[in-house]
Amino acid sequence: MTVNKVYIAGNWKMNLHREESVELLKGLREGKIPSQVEAILCPPFLRLEGAAELLEGSPYKLGAQDVSKYENGAHTGEISASMLKDLGLSYVIVGHSELRGEGQTDEEVSQKVRAALREGLVPIVCLGESEEEYDRGLSLETVARQLEESVLSLSPEEAEKVILAYEPLWAIGTGKNCPPEVAQEVAAHLKGKLKVPVLYGGSVKGNNAGEYLSCQDIDGVLVGGASLKAEEFLTIVEAAL
Ligand code: PGA
Repeated sequence: MTVNKVYIAGNWKMNLHREESVELLKGLREGKIPSQVEAILCPPFLRLEGAAELLEGSPYKLGAQDVSKYENGAHTGEISASMLKDLGLSYVIVGHSELRGEGQTDEEVSQKVRAALREGLVPIVCLGESEEEYDRGLSLETVARQLEESVLSLSPEEAEKVILAYEPLWAIGTGKNCPPEVAQEVAAHLKGKLKVPVLYGGSVKGNNAGEYLSCQDIDGVLVGGASLKAEEFLTIVEAAL
């Protein structure tokens, strides 16, 4: 690993009720986060305020799993970037494939990225190809197109403030691991277009995180299922050393 920061981000998705969330956060607080690791937790919106209180004074940073493309106003059910900022958040995941799969377009992703940046939040922008695209050898082409339309369509000053997460759809929640050399190739390709940190996500666990984190162009991991257990998340943090 280089001396740059290593990002370990946990995406809790739609999991954990109040008590479970408190238990996980207490367990995480007992772990040690080395100074070179940026440990980011992204609970569901409803858990953010409680998490912010429980994590006060700890090295953990908080992020949301999505953000509205709109500013505050008459948008029922939406959560604005300024509301997230108001809670002291630092990050927001944008364009996760589970939302793209529900119809979120690259254009909307770019609007969400801009909304986040306006409030000084760092967007973690997810990109990734489907299994069919992977099988057809279209991984690089697909992520390059998503990058172009969702991030490079912004100004260079905006684009350089994002973090990218390469998350092949077929590796998310499936236990099917993307070969680290493929993840490295995609990360290098993305970095050739935009010099920002690139994370890998998709079935990352304590026992395989090190394989990704030792890749030259991978600066961290975005973890779903394995971020719901304190011990597992902390094992991934340790793999960054
Ligand atoms: P997973 O999810 O680690 O459960 O595969 C990753 C993600 O969707 O961010």
